[in-house]
Amino acid sequence: MPSPTTAATTGAEGVKDAVFAARSVVKTYQMGEVAVHALNGVDLDLWPGEFVVLLGPSGSGKSTLLNILGGLDAPTSGDVFYRGEKLTAFNDSALTRYRRDHVGFVFQFYNLIPSLTARENVALITEIAPNPLDPVEALALVDLDKRKNHFPSQMSGGEQQRVAIARAVAKRPDVLLCDEPTGALDVHTGVLVLDAIQRVNAELGATTAVITHNAVIAKMADRVIHISDGRIAGEERNTKKVAASELEW
Ligand SMILES: Nc1ncnc2c1ncn2[C@@H]1O[C@H](COP(=O)(O)OP(=O)(O)O)[C@@H](O)[C@H]1O
Ligand SMILES: [Mg+2]
Repeated sequence: MPSPTTAATTGAEGVKDAVFAARSVVKTYQMGEVAVHALNGVDLDLWPGEFVVLLGPSGSGKSTLLNILGGLDAPTSGDVFYRGEKLTAFNDSALTRYRRDHVGFVFQFYNLIPSLTARENVALITEIAPNPLDPVEALALVDLDKRKNHFPSQMSGGEQQRVAIARAVAKRPDVLLCDEPTGALDVHTGVLVLDAIQRVNAELGATTAVITHNAVIAKMADRVIHISDGRIAGEERNTKKVAASELEW
């Protein structure tokens, strides 16, 4: 890893085995005179291979937290460790490498390139990744290999989101970070998208965090972390993990 600063050199406890360890993470946005406190001291560990749902109302700080874990944004204070390395000490090029090599992102809006087919959208990523899946193999993981030559405009919203998932996972990311992946979808298509995410977590073993304000989705997680007012308000482990196909909302 690029940063010389490790958990061992900082004396931080228990961060080495975690995929992510957030410690006292604060994020404040200064909007002119007004300070917006998006995160008010978050401590969080995510463990290898687990499927976590971060559940909280709109404005509670979920996206801010996910963007910090994914190296898209930096906290105002506090630290984040990624596999024992202090992410918050990485410089820009180390952060870019971290995002490129280890993180798959899925957002509410799919951001596919309209002039490229499903396969070509995925291939954009596999061409720059060191150990990628074949693009068609990635599309098969989300059950869209038959649609590989279709353009985004020829697919439904849910199908486009599954292409976006294939694109995110085609580099075999260590972590898959999903920000309201079903936010723009109806229940039926949302379930297919969640099923694809669940399959990727199980088959590729990527540590997966899904953020949502929909409590039903929490049933498919190994662990549910509640976020409220920029804080972790509680967590629970699901004794029985529900298959995405059994969810209804
Ligand atoms: N770039 C930004 N500039 C100013 N305020 C922001 C910015 N991003 C988020 N916020 C504020 O931080 C708080 C948390 O936002 P966010 O993390 O997007 O919450 P959630 O994803 O749970 O809806 C909100 O009050 C939001 O308005
Ligand atoms: Mg959000």
